[in-house]
Amino acid sequence: MKIIKTIKEMQSLGRKFRTESKSIGFVPTMGALHEGHLSLVRQCEYENDITVASIFVNPAQFGPGEDLEKYPRDNEGDLQKLSSLNVDAVFMPEIDEVYPEETSIAVNVGSIGQVLCGISRSGHFSGVATVVAKLFNIVMPDRAYFGQKDFQQTVVIKKMVKELNFNIEVIVCPVFREKDGLAMSSRNSYLNNKERKAAAVLYRSLKDAEELILKKNINHSDDVKANLEKIIKAEPLADIDYFEIVDPETLEPMQEISLPAATCLAVTIGNTRLIDNIIINSL
Ligand code: PAJ
Repeated sequence: MKIIKTIKEMQSLGRKFRTESKSIGFVPTMGALHEGHLSLVRQCEYENDITVASIFVNPAQFGPGEDLEKYPRDNEGDLQKLSSLNVDAVFMPEIDEVYPEETSIAVNVGSIGQVLCGISRSGHFSGVATVVAKLFNIVMPDRAYFGQKDFQQTVVIKKMVKELNFNIEVIVCPVFREKDGLAMSSRNSYLNNKERKAAAVLYRSLKDAEELILKKNINHSDDVKANLEKIIKAEPLADIDYFEIVDPETLEPMQEISLPAATCLAVTIGNTRLIDNIIINSL
């Protein structure tokens, strides 16, 4: 497995793979890898000749007061996991390599970056789109793999790829969960035992919303929201940030629910903000 620190080296390796007519799959990450990340790597390997992963904690997507400094890092463990999966190359640049000077150019993601997580994380999706655009230009993959866990992120990236004409297929992989349904996340490591147990409330409440919509034919989002609030409020360590039922493509909130619908939520457990979602398709 090649470990690559510079843009120049990554671009020339990409060029070499392409002249050999090999398909390149790419899995961008911020490291502290868990089974959720590895499920993306596995799918990427299955569908491509070459798999490139990146590990880069991107400062541009963290707001002031967010967890950039304490974001979990485990380069050694990450490299071990990736090499045991036979990843071909890992791009892990220093911050200065990606942002060598004060940047003035960024990707403007428009209104889809201002709803859901964008309300409390202003600028976050512009930071994500900018670094992903840079990584796409550095790795130049045929396919790029993202998790549905960060649903709004997948919508932003797909729109960016379409509108900025990247010649890349975006593939969205299912949410990988713990036994009790909690979506795997690098931020789960912030939770103490009690908080970890309480965090199961996210998936429980989403499944309840799904059942109301699919089995009990509740089609007003206010009714579903009221029920979900009851479930979350019954968990003393949980504090709801938002719960929305939205159109999966436009992220527009639905009053009357029609399928497919994305049920998305953010909940703070102790001091840790967690997100999750379920896409409800027609039966
Ligand atoms: P990070 O949070 O490290 O996640 C990297 C990729 O793994 C994302 O596409 C994310 O959706 C996916 N992922 C995380 N947990 C998952 C789970 N439980 N099941 C399935 N997929 C999961 O997302 C980012 O990094 C960054 O924003 C990035 C795209 C790398 C840009 O900096």
